[in-house]
Amino acid sequence: MRYYPNIPDLNANSSINLLLKRAKENRTVWIEEYETTGGYSALKKALTKLTPEDIVIMVEESTLRGRGGAGFPTGRKWRFALANPKPRYLICNADESEPGTFKDRIIIERDPHLLIEGMIISAYALGAELGFIYIRGEYPAGYMILEDAIEEARKKGYLGKNILGTDFSFDILVYRGAGAYICGEETALIESLEGKRGHPRLRPPYPANEGLFGRPTVVNNVETLSNIPIIVTYESYYMSIGPAGYYGPKLFPISGKVKNPGVYESTMDITLRELIDMAGGMKDGKKFKAVFAGALGVYSERDLDTPMDYSPKGFGGTGTTIVLAEDDCIIDALIVIGEFFHHESCGKCTPCRVGTYELLNILKKFQEGTATEKDIKYLEHLCENIPVGSICGLGYSAPNAVRDALKKFRDEFYLHIEKKCPAGVCFKE
Ligand code: NAI
Ligand code: SF4
Repeated sequence: MRYYPNIPDLNANSSINLLLKRAKENRTVWIEEYETTGGYSALKKALTKLTPEDIVIMVEESTLRGRGGAGFPTGRKWRFALANPKPRYLICNADESEPGTFKDRIIIERDPHLLIEGMIISAYALGAELGFIYIRGEYPAGYMILEDAIEEARKKGYLGKNILGTDFSFDILVYRGAGAYICGEETALIESLEGKRGHPRLRPPYPANEGLFGRPTVVNNVETLSNIPIIVTYESYYMSIGPAGYYGPKLFPISGKVKNPGVYESTMDITLRELIDMAGGMKDGKKFKAVFAGALGVYSERDLDTPMDYSPKGFGGTGTTIVLAEDDCIIDALIVIGEFFHHESCGKCTPCRVGTYELLNILKKFQEGTATEKDIKYLEHLCENIPVGSICGLGYSAPNAVRDALKKFRDEFYLHIEKKCPAGVCFKE
């Protein structure tokens, strides 16, 4: 096997052993081991015993929701695409770039055939003959592993012409991003795949109706597609995994001030508090302060009983959990997020391009001790108005963390106006 660069030894653990069945150790499971541990049996079942429609119904009944962050029902998205004539394309979005999000890489680097099998079954259900994996440029090992695993699958007849002797043909091409967060937005991703600059398109039309090269295209996340072999294997039993309406396994990447940061697999009937306990609880006995849900929301101690599901009051999203302790400064953490959005805004819409710059500058005033009460009002104004004139998820969500922090940690803003940092991070001599 060739040398694969940069594979961090991430902690991974599971209470249910579905998505992480083979991925708890830091090594790649290649095709022989994948097959001897039950791999590709779901594909064989799908091609010999099930029609494409059977699989679409299974996915609809499974209640599977998109694990890339938006939580859109997967079966419904597939139906939209199926209402349009062929050729249809399938794209796996492997451009995970949300701050603190590193769950998809565990599947890609350790159990790539789970994703590949999921894509083949999905393509069969969708009537797609060509699929793409768009992987972020910062995952060089993942790219090489996927290329090698796809070649293994071709040699075994799982990919290519007349798969397993049927009249179904499908192949996968892997495409590397070049380090832009915005290319994880599905229409920017499609533009990039088409060889253009990765700028989001106005939606509608949604990709399911008009996507890659103007054709109906389903864009699903790595974790979403990796659920498909599990759904086909377990059928109705899948609906006993987890709470009603939010069935199936979920991966949670946890980082920050916990004892054992890593990726944890669980059903979605746990709470945020229980998830932190799964990661060993707070590091060094420090007091909990906050959770940043990637860059998208802030949770305080009062929110620790939030269910980790996709219900209206649930945690939702990618499941990304960045834990802050008493010695972390909320303003400081918001500046990290603010720098990220300012840097990653593609610049197409003025409210996002200018607004993320302004948001960052105002936050820095709080850190420097030059902010006044007027700056709190200005932050609120920006939080309200950036999403209004933006056309994609980045602009809609860029102010979320600041908006939440202004509600839940408002006192910290006022203390910083008085040049006091409760965590002792800012205003050091
Ligand atoms: P969205 O809610 O607009 O769409 C979700 C999915 O449903 C898309 O595939 C969209 O095409 C489809 N869809 C929605 N309505 C449809 C309709 N009427 N007809 C056909 N298809 C339809 O969310 P969006 O903007 O695609 O994604 C935003 C999310 O992405 C955020 O919640 C954020 O958490 C997440 N995100 C995740 C990242 C990661 O690293 N995993 C990075 C950046 C954002
Ligand atoms: Fe680009 Fe921001 Fe507009 Fe999205 S909202 S298209 S990232 S400028």
